[in-house]
Amino acid sequence: MDQHRSHNPNSSYQNPQSAYRRHRDAGGRNHCENKRSRPNQQQQHHHHHQSGPAPNLSTRKELYERDFPVYKQPVEIGCFSLDSERRFFNDGRQMRYYVEPERNPNFDLRDGYKDRYIKRDGNVKEKLDHILRWILANKSKLCSKGAAASPCALDFDFVTWRGHLTKLLTTPYEMREGWLLAVTRFKGTLYISEVETEAARREQENRTERHEEMMYWGYKFEQYTCADDVHSLPDPGGVVNTNEAFCTVVQTRLADHRLLFSGEVDCRDKDPKAPAPPACYVELKTSAEICTPKQRSNFHRFKLLKWWAQSFLPGVPRVVAGFKDDEGVVVNVDTFPISKISQLIKNEHNCWKPTVCMNFCCDFLSFVKQIAIEDHPSVVYLFSSEPRRDVTFSVHRDSQYSFLPHWFVEEMSSRPDAHHQP
Ligand code: A3P
Ligand code: MG
Repeated sequence: MDQHRSHNPNSSYQNPQSAYRRHRDAGGRNHCENKRSRPNQQQQHHHHHQSGPAPNLSTRKELYERDFPVYKQPVEIGCFSLDSERRFFNDGRQMRYYVEPERNPNFDLRDGYKDRYIKRDGNVKEKLDHILRWILANKSKLCSKGAAASPCALDFDFVTWRGHLTKLLTTPYEMREGWLLAVTRFKGTLYISEVETEAARREQENRTERHEEMMYWGYKFEQYTCADDVHSLPDPGGVVNTNEAFCTVVQTRLADHRLLFSGEVDCRDKDPKAPAPPACYVELKTSAEICTPKQRSNFHRFKLLKWWAQSFLPGVPRVVAGFKDDEGVVVNVDTFPISKISQLIKNEHNCWKPTVCMNFCCDFLSFVKQIAIEDHPSVVYLFSSEPRRDVTFSVHRDSQYSFLPHWFVEEMSSRPDAHHQP
C-alpha cells in the first residue's frame, strides 16, 4: 500500500521525467493549517514527513509527452439508476436503447423547452452519494476477503465520478476553467469529489436565457434518439426530465492506480448480439454545424478532446453526434468511433494528444497518493487547478469540504455481519 512507501518525493518517484517539482515558494508562505479561509486564500501545506516547501504538480503538457501509460480495459462491475425524482435504484431500470436516426433528421431541439421540461435542481450537491450508495448495496462482493471479521476495505485506490477524471484528462489543455477536487482517504481508499469553484458558481448564476435553453437541446436530442424499451421507438412528444439517469460502474487500472468510477451512460445498442457493456454503450452529443475550416479546426481541438476523454475512460466505443444550426435544428448526424478520434486530429497543428491526458491523470493520482496520507473520513485534501498554473493543495479538518456521509462511514466501519447479530 501507498502508506508504506517513502514519503519523500525525491525518493518515491523514480521517473526522471516526473512532473513533480518543489513549489517555488515565491510568496514566502508558511505552512500552518488554515481551516476557515476560502480555497484561493488557503495556505500551502506540506505533509508531515517532508521538510521544506510542499511539491506542486505542473500542468505543462510538454512534461507528459511520454509513452502511453497502461490503461486496462474498463470492466463494468455494476450499474444504478436515478428515477424522475432522483431516487437511487441498484439496477438498470433507466437504461435506454439507441434508435439510429436518419442522416439529415431535422430534429427541432427547441420543442418542449417551455412546457415539457423538468430540470434537475442544480443547487443540490450530490457529491459522491449515489456511488457510495451503490458501494454499500454491493458491499459483500466488493470488500476484500482476507480478514473476514474486519470491517470493509475496498480493493481500490480511488473512487470517483468519471466526470471528475474527464476534467483531469483535459487539464493540460484547459485554458479557461479551473477545478477544485476534494480528496479523503478512508480505509486506504482515496475518494475524490468535486467542489464548485467560485467562477463556476458565478457563471451558473449569470446564465442567459439563451444558454439555459441551449442546455436543454442536448437532452432533447437524447429523447429523439433513445427508446425506453428494446422494441419501442423514441417518444419526442414526452417530457424531458433530467433527473433520470442510468449510470455504469466500472473498474479499471491506470498504471498502478486501481480505479472504481461511475458515469452516466446515454443509451445502448439494442441489438441482442451487441457486445457486453461497456462496449455496447453509445454516447450522444450535439455540436454546432461545421461550415468553415476554422470551425472544423475548433471542433477537432476542443470538442473532440472532451468527447474522447469522456468516453475513453469507461470504454464507451462511439459517440453519435447531432450537428445543429443556430435555430436548434439537427441538420446532420454522424458517428465518431473513439478509437478513430486520434487519427482524425492528426492533421491539426499543435493539437491535443491522448498520451498527455492519460499521463497527466496518472501523475495527478500519484501526487494525491503522496499528499493525502492521513486516513480519516472528515479530513479533506483540497486540490486546486487554474489554467496555466501548477496544481496546489490545502488541508481541511471537519470543514465545509468534508463529503463522506455518516451513513457511509458507519456502514463501512461495521463488521460484515453486524446487522444479523441479535
Ligand atoms: P450535449 O452533449 O449535446 O452538449 P452528456 O453529453 O455529457 O451526456 O450531457 C448531456 C447534455 O447535458 C448536454 O448535451 C448538454 O445539453 C447538457 N449539459 C451537460 N453538461 C453541461 C454543461 N456543463 N453546460 C451546459 N450543458 C451541459
Ligand atoms: Mg451525451
